[in-house]
Amino acid sequence: MNTPLNPLAPESLSGARALVTGSSRGIGAETVGYLAKAGAKVVVNYRNKEARAGKLVAAIEASGGEAIAIGADLTDEASVRALFDTVAREWGGLDILVMNASGGMESGMAEDYAMRLNRDAQVSLLTAALPLLAPGARVVFVTSHQAHFVETTETMPEYLPVALSKRAGEDALRAMIPALTAAGIGFVVVSGDMIEGTITATLLERANPGAISARKDAAGRLYNVGEFAAEVALAVVEPVPENNTRYVGDVSDFIGA
Ligand SMILES: NC(=O)c1ccc[n+]([C@@H]2O[C@H](COP(=O)([O-])OP(=O)(O)OC[C@H]3O[C@@H](n4cnc5c(N)ncnc54)[C@H](OP(=O)(O)O)[C@@H]3O)[C@@H](O)[C@H]2O)c1
Repeated sequence: MNTPLNPLAPESLSGARALVTGSSRGIGAETVGYLAKAGAKVVVNYRNKEARAGKLVAAIEASGGEAIAIGADLTDEASVRALFDTVAREWGGLDILVMNASGGMESGMAEDYAMRLNRDAQVSLLTAALPLLAPGARVVFVTSHQAHFVETTETMPEYLPVALSKRAGEDALRAMIPALTAAGIGFVVVSGDMIEGTITATLLERANPGAISARKDAAGRLYNVGEFAAEVALAVVEPVPENNTRYVGDVSDFIGA
């Protein structure tokens, strides 16, 4: 856990119960660290990285926090059911759900894998979480500008299947906003540019040399993992923004301003 920033006040989330999907590494791990530092009990969810998730839980516990690691492949409905059964048994409910897990650039996956994970599994996850979320709960969906604006702004060809699937997932989740609002649950999409130092950025740079540095030149700067995760953590506590969307950094390249 490397938390250079401290976006949330200590104890500000005391007693809150949080689940961050895909939180054994990357942005999810930093986000779960910020929530735990603010006093929330956290689920560190992983698909493959059990040892990493265990290390993160130990680090949170060592600094006085409360965390449990739960493995679940989000594309497997039985696995998601077992995840929420464990949360219900351990904590009786959830106050914060951060939908961070994402994929689609892994090699050897079926052609429809990005859609299955970034759209279908996200909808199934939120549907399965609903009975555990009480009025006042907050749901945050994490995405990239390249996905959020894919219908109007061309993106790197290597990222296109992921971008289209994440936008489809965002649209499907947005269709649930009326039901969430009626249940008193706040919903926020957090959208950011490519993040320096991530596996996705490294894979894209490898497939398309110069792509990430070109993005950096165009944007002026790119956020790092800690900075972006701090924005995700703030989206959990700050009022729901206009159009349920929190943009991180400059979006002028994407909206043609
Ligand atoms: N990277 C960027 O430049 C960037 C920019 C803007 C927005 N974002 C968004 O930020 C979020 C996190 O990105 P990241 O770069 O930190 O991702 P990452 O390093 O690729 O990590 C993805 C996480 O998702 C988990 N995951 C993948 N497939 C899963 C599955 N089928 N079931 C359960 N968990 C699964 C992984 O778990 P395991 O490690 O256990 O496999 C991992 O913890 C994503 O929503 C992404 O779209 C990223």
